[in-house]
Amino acid sequence: MAEPAYTPAQRAEIEKLEHDVTERMRDVKPRRLAHSLSVAKTAEAMALEYGVDPYLARTAGILHDWDKVVPDDELEARAMSLGIDFGVDLSLVRPLLHGVVAARELPELYPELPGDVFLAIARHTTGAADMTPLQEVVFVADGIEPLRKSSPGIERVREMVGKAPLDDVYYESFCGGLSYVIDTRRYLYPGTLDIYNKLVLRRAQSR
Ligand SMILES: [Fe+2]
Repeated sequence: MAEPAYTPAQRAEIEKLEHDVTERMRDVKPRRLAHSLSVAKTAEAMALEYGVDPYLARTAGILHDWDKVVPDDELEARAMSLGIDFGVDLSLVRPLLHGVVAARELPELYPELPGDVFLAIARHTTGAADMTPLQEVVFVADGIEPLRKSSPGIERVREMVGKAPLDDVYYESFCGGLSYVIDTRRYLYPGTLDIYNKLVLRRAQSR
């Protein structure tokens, strides 16, 4: 897939973000850095495939795990002080916090980026029942980027990209994530189940 025709300003912004995320993660989380850059490229390619703005997908991908370097305790404290409410004790949903917290903190660092980028970052951990195409692209790219270890569920999603409608790819990816939580006997955030039920009903209605 050819590189999108970015403006010089967009190209410069991408380079700045890649530089910043590299500085932030290189020494402490090198694999997370590789993952972030890989999600960005995967999201960009998917955006081109599905008529989504590739610049927004690329920039959201670069930044989506920005707060993965923050220790769990501190992340929880930040979420608390930002008034982030999951309706359950925040210690139960620690794996979900980095997206929403980053989405609240990044606009100050990068006011030049459109709000859609931060919304996509906020939703990349939880998903939602009313995802925009950009949000779906970032969510799916996070789950299937080529550095992520293969599993039957991930392969199913990879196979669908470019062949199935984006909503279907997202649905498969979301359900795969939900199955993984259950298979590994982790705490299932009730909000995830709620989203799942909404998606199921919506899809039943649209048939
Ligand atoms: Fe990620």
